[in-house]
Amino acid sequence: MKGLRALVTAGPTHEPIDPVRFIANRSSGKQGYAIARGLQKQGAQVILVSGPTNLADPAGMTVIHVETAREMLAAVESSLPVDVAVFCAAVVDWRVKTESAGKIKKVEGAPPPVLKLVPNPDILATISQRTKDRPRLCVGFAAETDNVIENARKKRLAKGCDWILANDVSPGTGTFGGDTNQVHLITAAGVEDWMTLNKDEVGDRLAGRIKDAVAAMPTGSAR
Ligand code: PMT
Repeated sequence: MKGLRALVTAGPTHEPIDPVRFIANRSSGKQGYAIARGLQKQGAQVILVSGPTNLADPAGMTVIHVETAREMLAAVESSLPVDVAVFCAAVVDWRVKTESAGKIKKVEGAPPPVLKLVPNPDILATISQRTKDRPRLCVGFAAETDNVIENARKKRLAKGCDWILANDVSPGTGTFGGDTNQVHLITAAGVEDWMTLNKDEVGDRLAGRIKDAVAAMPTGSAR
């Protein structure tokens, strides 16, 4: 992948409620960072757009740190054009409509506050459905607890990405935050079940598949 640009999103987003509280999820960033390293090993010039994690920046790549979904979308858009994009971040789907400028006070005897939520932008769908500067290969993830493969298949079509990795995140799997992952690679051609692997191995295997796919593309689109 020498001379090719690859973008990876990783980690959670944090959506502020007030200056001290936020909505988030359990993503550690491990899987996304491993994919970024895998693509780098294949020779790609990598841009990693990361939500808040405890991980060190991988050496030799551009790392853009963001907090919210809207910041992540802006960072991704400003990094285009890229040849390949992998959207591994667990983007929080909703944010509070109006962030409170001051800490929301707990008032004894008063009912708890009601938070009005609004949808965040869908970064994977926005980029996959672009007409200008669409990456040649857009790869998403689908974190599911039920009907994992079927729901991931639907998600691939709804969002318009080329490939999607179905991820079972049911309680007990340890997918969020753990060191291993079991994914199913879904493409237009069908479903490939990968065994449980270390997240680094998932990153390396995915990067290898991406390298082969890009090499097989005539020019322009990977679809
Ligand atoms: O970070 P780790 O602890 O290593 O865990 C890895 C992981 C479980 C986070 C990762 O493997 C994974 O499954 N990432 C996707 C998590 C997710 O948010 O899935 P989703 O099914 O809700 O979203 C589907 C796709 O749309 C994803 O590619 C996501 O990045 C993207 N998305 C979702 C919502 C949104 N507003 N914008 C998006 O781009």
